[in-house]
Amino acid sequence: MIGLPTETVYGLAADASNDEAVATIFAAKGRPATHPLIVHICAHDGGMSAVAHFCIKVPPFAQQLMTAFWPGPLTLILPRRAGVASATAGGQESIGLRCPSHPTAQALLVALRTPVEGEAEVWGLAAPSANRFGRVSPTTAAHVQSELGDTLLVLDGGPCGVGIESTIIDCTRGQPVLLRPGAITRLQVEQACGRKLLSNQELIAQVPQGLEAPRASGTLESHYAPNARVRLMDARALQTAVDVLSETIAPSGSPSIAIYARTVLKKIPRQIVFRRMPDDAQAVAQQLFAVLRELDASAVKLIWVETPPDTEAWEGVLDRLSRAAAD
Ligand code: TXA
Ligand code: MG
Repeated sequence: MIGLPTETVYGLAADASNDEAVATIFAAKGRPATHPLIVHICAHDGGMSAVAHFCIKVPPFAQQLMTAFWPGPLTLILPRRAGVASATAGGQESIGLRCPSHPTAQALLVALRTPVEGEAEVWGLAAPSANRFGRVSPTTAAHVQSELGDTLLVLDGGPCGVGIESTIIDCTRGQPVLLRPGAITRLQVEQACGRKLLSNQELIAQVPQGLEAPRASGTLESHYAPNARVRLMDARALQTAVDVLSETIAPSGSPSIAIYARTVLKKIPRQIVFRRMPDDAQAVAQQLFAVLRELDASAVKLIWVETPPDTEAWEGVLDRLSRAAAD
């Protein structure tokens, strides 16, 4: 088991076909064994031989998404070949596959696919984000080490470029279903495969009354939570809160509140830790988890975050912030 850099976040990786190795990942993360892991595959033939190894029935729209976005920050849930990577799949009949673009991840995946006499070929690396269950994902090698300890071997690939976890599309239900928003947007997905991308709720609503609603395959983590409480507020509410604070805060009080906002606020008391949020969604995604960790480390009790714009480009960031803010 090693810490692995990817373009999205760092993963905690082991041979996806080795149930014992996979069990060490679940144990290190404190993650329930029924919670499936994503398998990372080698890009050398567009991922196709690994897809054929792990999956049966790849629908044409899934094939189009692989061609358009692999290697890259997109995970596809596909029907799993019986008997393959069962511990990784956490007992699901499906498997999540992703072909990462990070050069270090790809170099390792290529090396593992190169045959060595007497050793089994490694078809893919199971890797969840390398944080303890329910915590913010790591985007540097140092974050991984602080989550999981110094004895873990971590390949240092520098800070992750994307910064939030991959977009996940379920391809097992006849039409593409968005399970987790990420850097690859709805519009990009719909344009690449020419199909409407449904949400889980939309899919369930389509089922005629009397029929059983499809089961959501695999539940997503409900939290990406720092220790401090995160609150989302629009610019006006933030300014009002700052005004109230500046009238009531003791001049020598220690900082217990941090603000992460795009809007320039007036008269912020000196005791408040302020971080300016970039205007661009991709730039915010890249730094988001590092900023939450940093603010947490400054021992603030509250992090007030300006609500991002309600546009498609911000969907991934808004999703992670809403989870961090959930009680
Ligand atoms: O960007 C990423 O995807 C990162 C990097 C390391 O690749 N990985 C990552 O893994 O975020 P993890 O395990 O933290 O999140 C994967 C999510 C989980 O919420 C899991 O429930 C869901 O994907 N998932 C995995 N396999 C699934 C399956 N067969 N069916 C439904 N959901 C699945
Ligand atoms: Mg995770």
